[in-house]
Amino acid sequence: MKIAVCGKGGVGKTTISGLLCRILGAKGIPVLAIDGDPNPNLALTLGLDPQAAMPKPLTSKLLEIYQKDDGKKCAKLKSPLAEVMAEHGIQVAENVTLLAVGQPEHAGTGCMCGTHTTVREIIHTALEESEQVTLLDLEASLEQMKRGTSKYVDVLLCVVEPYYRSMEAVARFQRLGKELEIKNIVAVANKVKNAQDEEAIRDFCAQTDLPVIAVIPLDPTVSEADKKGSLDMADIDESPALRAINQLAEDLLETV
Ligand SMILES: Nc1ncnc2c1ncn2[C@@H]1O[C@H](COP(=O)(O)OP(=O)(O)OP(=O)(O)O)[C@@H](O)[C@H]1O
Ligand SMILES: [Mg+2]
Repeated sequence: MKIAVCGKGGVGKTTISGLLCRILGAKGIPVLAIDGDPNPNLALTLGLDPQAAMPKPLTSKLLEIYQKDDGKKCAKLKSPLAEVMAEHGIQVAENVTLLAVGQPEHAGTGCMCGTHTTVREIIHTALEESEQVTLLDLEASLEQMKRGTSKYVDVLLCVVEPYYRSMEAVARFQRLGKELEIKNIVAVANKVKNAQDEEAIRDFCAQTDLPVIAVIPLDPTVSEADKKGSLDMADIDESPALRAINQLAEDLLETV
């Protein structure tokens, strides 16, 4: 299963991504987690110490450009994915390997286009087997969707908060996801305070035929635990949000 997680800034993409990876990993499923945000922080929600070494960034140097018979230029990984994971990945939570696009070293040092293509090809190459999960935590902008970074995922999780601009943004992600021909495009309602919040999201998503597959409550234990830096599962043991994300993991395994 290959999943991309998108949504407007601050909706909870990285929190949900990290927790999903840890939950799936703890079930014995090998997980390849990719931090697609040039301002990376998936490592923290995967429990990595803020002082620990980060993965060696993925760059376009990992790509080989070749020409197809029709003359069209294409890109593929130069080395097998296992080698890329060994050189660039770090082991984080149980059964979880983290790769990251990394951050530009200096301001004004160029675009990330090649890096986006590298991520796309890593996902393309990742095993199709259902026991393996590849999860891409996207940056908030539509840029990566426009560049097709998520082209080869089979699930697009659109995280949405109960306010209009967030819902409207999800409709844009959904449209781009359709253009990329992603099979399963679904919404995950996050930071839901009450029945009215849930209804607002369900009503909006119904208008664009976007199924809401999970409703995660606004849960102060999550934001409190996040203040420490690295997210400690023990701090959110009893958390209703964690319970909802556990259920989301079950549902994804069953339905995809
Ligand atoms: N269900 C929840 N209840 C309470 N707080 C939450 C919940 N989900 C996420 N948060 C908090 O919201 C904040 C933003 O979360 P997160 O970094 O995961 O969002 P994001 O969408 O990845 O942001 P960005 O667009 O910057 O990448 C964090 O402080 C996190 O603890
Ligand atoms: Mg994030």
